Amino acid sequence: MKIIRVNSYEEMSRKAADLIGEEINRKPDLVLGLATGSTPKGTYAQLVSDYEKGKVDFSLVRTVNLDEYAGLSPESPHSYRYFMNTQLFDHINIDPANTHIPDGLSDEEEECARYEQLITSLGGIDLQLLGLGHNGHIGFNEPADEYARYTHPVELTESTIQANSRLFENVRDMPRRALTMGVGTIMQAERILLIVSGEGKREALKQTLSGPIRPDFPASVLQLHRDVTVIAEADVF
Ligand code: F6R
Repeated sequence: MKIIRVNSYEEMSRKAADLIGEEINRKPDLVLGLATGSTPKGTYAQLVSDYEKGKVDFSLVRTVNLDEYAGLSPESPHSYRYFMNTQLFDHINIDPANTHIPDGLSDEEEECARYEQLITSLGGIDLQLLGLGHNGHIGFNEPADEYARYTHPVELTESTIQANSRLFENVRDMPRRALTMGVGTIMQAERILLIVSGEGKREALKQTLSGPIRPDFPASVLQLHRDVTVIAEADVF
């Protein structure tokens, strides 16, 4: 793993956006895997700014998001589709038809099979952006007895529900299920960019970088990938 320590959230976001921009400039029709959550917001803001300055062109880029809550419509302000539209897609020249996120309203099993097939038909993921859950989840691959190979429905853990409910008015409104790329789907990406911010992620980052590789701490599997870049704030180490 290539580890880049930075001094601030802004620097992390700047470096992550630079790396993504370089990959798009190298391959204009890049298949870019994206994440939601607090961590990548600054990266998306930087990408919007780079687009406005003419430094990056998204016209041919294809995107696939890691996950979506089950039961939320794309219009719901809590859906990941809404997050991506408002944080990034609405502000750049990407073709909306080239942006893909699992549909939280479809039959779960059918939608997961369709989504996995879609990623295959795009030729796989060139660069996957990841955030890190406190419990080691990547996408919504929660700690488990075994790694999930493909996109699949999941029951969210109490830890994730508590962590993500901050974005809902009431914890009861937070969906209990989600659709997520599998660990296998993520590991097949050509390149992975993991961004980590906040002292609360210290133990999770330590386990990711040097803990035992085990499915009850899913991010540890990244140690086995041949091309992972980690950009993390110095105080997370
Ligand atoms: C979101 C996702 C999650 C988040 C993780 C960290 O699409 O896949 O794995 O990356 O929960 O979230 P934040 O960045 O909010 O701490």
